[in-house]
Amino acid sequence: MTYEYILAIETSCDETSVAIVKDGRTVLANIVYSQIETHKAFGGVVPEVASRQHVEKITIVIEQALDQADITMEVVNAIAVTYAPGLVGALLVGVQAAKALAFAYNLPIIPVHHIAGHIYANNIEQTLQFPLVALVVSGGHTELVVMKGHYQFEIIGETMDDAVGEAYDKVARVLQLPYPGGPQIDRLAQIGQITYQLPTPKTELPYDFSFSGLKSAVINLVHKHKQRGEAIIAEDLAASFQKVVVDTLVEKTMAAVVKYDAKQLIIAGGVSANIGLRREIAQATQLTGGVELTIPPFEYCTDNAAMIGAAAYYAAQKGARADYTLNGRPSIPLQTIGE
Ligand code: KG4
Ligand code: ZN
Repeated sequence: MTYEYILAIETSCDETSVAIVKDGRTVLANIVYSQIETHKAFGGVVPEVASRQHVEKITIVIEQALDQADITMEVVNAIAVTYAPGLVGALLVGVQAAKALAFAYNLPIIPVHHIAGHIYANNIEQTLQFPLVALVVSGGHTELVVMKGHYQFEIIGETMDDAVGEAYDKVARVLQLPYPGGPQIDRLAQIGQITYQLPTPKTELPYDFSFSGLKSAVINLVHKHKQRGEAIIAEDLAASFQKVVVDTLVEKTMAAVVKYDAKQLIIAGGVSANIGLRREIAQATQLTGGVELTIPPFEYCTDNAAMIGAAAYYAAQKGARADYTLNGRPSIPLQTIGE
């Protein structure tokens, strides 16, 4: 099925977001209410607090999206919602809102995988071209995905332990930087020097990742300096850490681009906002030649509902459909179409 006007809902973590997307690509509205200020006080996302804030905000965010798009519910053809992966209590708020709207206006529900959304953030202002390699880098995922057509996902590599965003956030925490730490480390890395020796992550398979060893090395280094009463130069440590992370991501991604003869390389997920990654991957693709690099605009890098609406359009064409038994799920395979 093809739906012209999709109302999309995203509540998988700490953003309450609702978008109206036309023909899968035109974003008529994208309202994002971020809870970051609340969670900052706790140094990370508190699931119960996240759910409660989603409940408080969801109806107003839906109204704001309709207002911004200047349409009424009668115009909407389908409701899309992130149902996995994420915090179950948070997902559930979006799923319930989707079910209520679907019931009230007799509309179909399109269930969307959050990571498919991040990938389709690259099909809003740019256009996906197949075959493509997607580097997915978020707070919960680090994966290399090959797509040979719309909504065909083949995971060729993934993290064995920590996701890259998670490693960023934990390193930031030991440096006493506010949550979320990724952008803070990125900012410091721009002014720091690469002076600290850190281990290069090793994995058995070429497209897999592992960041927990690197993360622990940074944490141990900070603790050792503290014990000895020596100061850590935060910006230099940030630059040294970012260098190892970005080199690893770029090297593996470019190897996949060559192996799969990709026409396009896309970067998806919150860490795609990283300045160091954007710079190095742009340089690497220029050297490789023939592959087009696509990175979403900053507003579509972190969690938002526009990307969910963009993905839903193609998911629906593959038959994705849910009924009123739809639930939030902490984790499901990316390849799952529908429930
Ligand atoms: O995709 P996202 O918004 O939420 C998840 O689906 O996880 O990603 C959030 C993650 C956080 O770990 C955050 O620290 C990281 O993305 N992040 C960054 C940057 N901006 C956000 N990491 C490194 N550099 C950045 N500029
Ligand atoms: Zn995300």
